[in-house]
Amino acid sequence: MIVAVDGPTASGKGTIARALSAHFGLPHLDTGLLYRAVGRQCLLDGGDPDDPVAALAACAFSEGLLLDPELRSEATGGLASRVSVHPAVRQALFERQRSFATQQRGAVLDGRDIGTIIAPDADVKLFVTASVEARAQRRFDEMRAQGRPVLLEAIAADLAARDERDATRRDAPLAVADGAVVLDTSQLGRDEAVAEAIRIVEAARHTA
Ligand code: DC
Repeated sequence: MIVAVDGPTASGKGTIARALSAHFGLPHLDTGLLYRAVGRQCLLDGGDPDDPVAALAACAFSEGLLLDPELRSEATGGLASRVSVHPAVRQALFERQRSFATQQRGAVLDGRDIGTIIAPDADVKLFVTASVEARAQRRFDEMRAQGRPVLLEAIAADLAARDERDATRRDAPLAVADGAVVLDTSQLGRDEAVAEAIRIVEAARHTA
């Protein structure tokens, strides 16, 4: 079984994908981490993330970089969003994601274009979303809990800018895939969102 989980930043798609992976015993790939590694490598190389040549060169990052805690930062998320607009970067990361998706044991992948481009043949497609306000509040709470000083307004503005770039790029924009079930988590707690996602996967599996 291939499960595709797409959605915008801070929608809860990562949490849901990890929970589905554990519940159904399927390996999980967070594809955003690959784009984050490219963005981070580009910065380390002193390259311009908006330059397709520099961004493509950064796709040769070493596997060890995937463990760098800095990949999770907001700043790296912004760099990832910028390098991800280049078709050559998306192509360079395609095969790795496609082979993960089609491995024999099945898989859960989360990202922006899993149901549309990487695994249009997925057995279950989920599009996880939430209002900008709800997503900004979650990010704000997370960062405050880590003791990092942040402004809610700044987070909301940053999320809106990332949404805009991810949804309007020419190549593989963030979009609801054909046949995807939309799960809006604005009013749901973590456990409720996970339970609903499991229910959707169970239902889709039985009709597949
Ligand atoms: O899901 P995330 O916040 O870790 O993703 C970071 C950026 O990477 C996101 O803003 C756009 C890009 N991305 C993408 O273009 N395609 C994917 N499948 C996953 C992420």
